[in-house]
Amino acid sequence: MSVFLNLLSQKYVKLNRLIKAGGFLKNGLTAILNIEYPIIMAPMFLVSNTKMIIAGLEAGITGAIPALNYRKSDDLRKAILTIREASDKPFGVNLIVNRSNPKVKQQLKVLLETRVDYIITSLGNPKKVIDECKPLGIKVFCDVVNLKQAQKVEQLGADAVIAVCNRTGGHLGKMGKKELVEEIQANCNIPVIAAGGIFDNKSYKETMELGVAGVSVGTAFIASEECSVSQQYKQALIDYGANDIVITNKMSGSPLTVINTPYVQEIGLKANWLEFVINRVKFLKKIVKTITVMRAMKVIERSAFKASYKNVWVAGYSIEGIKSIRLVKEIVSSITNYRISEQSEISQLQISSEKLAAS
Ligand SMILES: Cc1cc2nc3c(=O)[nH]c(=O)nc-3n(C[C@H](O)[C@H](O)[C@H](O)COP(=O)(O)O)c2cc1C
Repeated sequence: MSVFLNLLSQKYVKLNRLIKAGGFLKNGLTAILNIEYPIIMAPMFLVSNTKMIIAGLEAGITGAIPALNYRKSDDLRKAILTIREASDKPFGVNLIVNRSNPKVKQQLKVLLETRVDYIITSLGNPKKVIDECKPLGIKVFCDVVNLKQAQKVEQLGADAVIAVCNRTGGHLGKMGKKELVEEIQANCNIPVIAAGGIFDNKSYKETMELGVAGVSVGTAFIASEECSVSQQYKQALIDYGANDIVITNKMSGSPLTVINTPYVQEIGLKANWLEFVINRVKFLKKIVKTITVMRAMKVIERSAFKASYKNVWVAGYSIEGIKSIRLVKEIVSSITNYRISEQSEISQLQISSEKLAAS
């Protein structure tokens, strides 16, 4: 009897855990987008390309490309059409919606005309994007770093929030992943997608078990065959570990995770006194920030594609899990491999609970 009860309680704990892994449930990312796995290949400035996104779609996940990767609206349109020609699966585009992106209007126009499946907004106020997307059925997921932002975008009508925590690669937040996700879940009703620190089956499982609708994975995909950054950048992802990730304010003025290369050490991580003074004077700040961002983009772009000593390689703590360069589909299956058997249990559970509710 006690063996039976023990087995029953183990089963209960397991099923409970799986129900909490909400990605496969009704408001999970799989249902929202009709995809196999609740995973977004995260948008990465300069790094994302159409080949990676197409490979991701073929592997059962979705992917989003940053609009900022394309200098002209026509190039953005071409990229969208290239993906659409290769796959009928849903994909998205990332829009920076604050003043640092002077092209936001033209970019949004292209996204509305081409009817992308979803838009990920980052920085700034997404109201205009949400208002214009709603009537067309284009979903809007908004990057947020705290509860206040999550509540604001929920009230504006966002379809989901992407919780950007202090382990996210690129521009990161301040709160821990669990703390941020749970605070949003307790106070909002829209689905929460977690970003940061997901690179293998363990980190995926642990994050899904927070009850999130899905996850957003960036750094792990830089080390893919399909990614077109330089071999040096990819090799650095293998050679360096999580302890080599530092946060710099030097590049865009906002905290950014980079690999601590000799060049990053040489230029330092903090703004110097002149930059500090300039940042206090409002009108100087605006001009200098624009110049600083443009200069930083150039340095990051050169580092991403050319062999150079002045390397500023953007990557997150997920670098810890990178041991080799693999195909996108191999990276996806190493992250998702628990799903095959356990998903069927979740589906069974869903069917049973729906039957129960109907009776
Ligand atoms: C190289 C790099 C570039 C990024 N560029 C962007 C970007 O252009 N827009 C954006 O919203 N997020 C950007 N991010 C953040 C990712 O979309 C995503 O939130 C993050 O990579 C998830 O954390 P992970 O790297 O630990 O998987 C970038 C991240 C990296 C590593």
